Amino acid sequence: MSIDQYAVVGHPISHSKSPAIHTEFAHLTNQSLQYTAIDIEPELFEQTINEFFENGGKGLNVTVPFKEKAFAYAHQLSDRAKTAQAVNTLILNKDGTVTGDNTDGAGLVNDLLQSTQLKDKRILIIGAGGASKGVLLPIIEQVPQSITIVNRTFSKAQSLVEQFLPYYKAINAVELEKIEDCFDVIINATSASLQGQSLSINPNIINENTVCYDMMYGKDDTVFNTWAKQQGAKKVIDGLGMLVGQAAFSFYLWRGVTPKTDSVMQQIRDSMK
Ligand code: ATR
Repeated sequence: MSIDQYAVVGHPISHSKSPAIHTEFAHLTNQSLQYTAIDIEPELFEQTINEFFENGGKGLNVTVPFKEKAFAYAHQLSDRAKTAQAVNTLILNKDGTVTGDNTDGAGLVNDLLQSTQLKDKRILIIGAGGASKGVLLPIIEQVPQSITIVNRTFSKAQSLVEQFLPYYKAINAVELEKIEDCFDVIINATSASLQGQSLSINPNIINENTVCYDMMYGKDDTVFNTWAKQQGAKKVIDGLGMLVGQAAFSFYLWRGVTPKTDSVMQQIRDSMK
């Protein structure tokens, strides 16, 4: 019998750590599978995914820039995927249909909960793109006191608030330059750190008890986390735990077992030294 095939699809994809993570998960849980990375030209997304599943593929992770395309591709969607309007995990069902799910939010929340409860906390989310939208519902489920969204393009923050108001009343949008309050938890969901750019935002949002989380990660502190420390934040966390956490949840959706993540996190940290 041929070995079960999984892959991550994106463009570009060569930097992806998902093959190493899932190969280690398979090892840790004694599962027999192969996991690769597939670089897809944007116009060939559907065709490539169809071929993957026709040729014995069982599941896919989907990354930038295809999460919305994967949302449109899936035959069924989880509630998580529906609210995020984006899919990062595709699962082939026994009847040949494909289910789309989104494990990003659970990956983030589980990682944050290692450092702080979110219940009754004042939360600031910076950014109103796909990354922000993908994690809002799981954060709301933790029943924070309030969620404020700021974004360089204010109208995008406003539309996100309108979308989530039916689920949670204490959500509001503030213009990036006008934010003044201090927050318990700040999540940077912009791609600014990725481009090595700093955000033009009021430093008063941070005090020493503020927990700062950057969805990006790297060998050294991200631009945002370096800045947060300079403003006095004692607890800053990068997005490696979110990356490994979302992968573990995808693995569970495909294989029915949840791998332990500690050793994989350590391996990636070591490989970046
Ligand atoms: P993703 O799917 O990663 O969220 P995206 O949808 O392109 O990607 O969104 C990127 C987010 O980072 C947006 O909120 C963007 O702000 P705009 O909506 O104003 O474009 C934000 N962003 C990127 N670079 C930024 C910068 N230098 N300063 C502030 N915000 C930035």
